[in-house]
Amino acid sequence: MAPGTNVQSQNDPAARPRVLIRDATATDVGPILRLVRALAEYERLGHEVTATEAEMREALFGPLPRVHALLAEVAGEPVGLALFYYTLNTFKLRPNIFLEDLFVDPAYRGSGIGIALMRTLARRAVAENCSRVEWRVLNWNRPSIEFYRRIGAESIVDWHTLLLDGAALAALAEGTSHG
Ligand code: COA
Repeated sequence: MAPGTNVQSQNDPAARPRVLIRDATATDVGPILRLVRALAEYERLGHEVTATEAEMREALFGPLPRVHALLAEVAGEPVGLALFYYTLNTFKLRPNIFLEDLFVDPAYRGSGIGIALMRTLARRAVAENCSRVEWRVLNWNRPSIEFYRRIGAESIVDWHTLLLDGAALAALAEGTSHG
């Protein structure tokens, strides 16, 4: 990815903070975890966060990185985060980017930082011949759905999203379910 990109906001640049979007480095693990926790709290899922800094460091910067991070920085302080990883479109054999977490600190919202993070991700996807950028958003999170609509995102209507976890996952693995 290109080194950090300075982003000028669209409407009134003078009134908006100067933002740097850059790849995270190993020294950013603390702020990344803070932003992930803040997103979880916003999504009313704070109780589900068990990740530690050591685990985050391993996931981002270990021998087999499982996730990547873009940070938005204002005056040297991380105030926004996009965490993503790659999936694969096997029909086209092209990568996809899956956006796992997007968050901007409340004090910095509405300044173009969310768009800047999404634009940087889109540029990366285009540069790497990805077929799409995709993500999930909670049904009640209307403000963010509005934000995503504004950048041209569409809802997937003809697919169900499913998961297997907890007792059902264990039961299938152990052969005690109908599977
Ligand atoms: N409803 C309608 N418009 C919105 C909006 C909203 N909730 N949030 C932003 N916009 C508008 C902005 O006013 C701006 O318009 P402008 O350029 O004409 O002024 C444009 O969309 C760009 O918004 P931006 O300032 O780049 O968004 P942001 O920095 O506030 O970041 C989020 C957007 C969603 C990342 C941020 O609001 C956030 O962190 N929300 C809480 C966490 C969350 O829901 N994350 C997504 C989980 S899937």
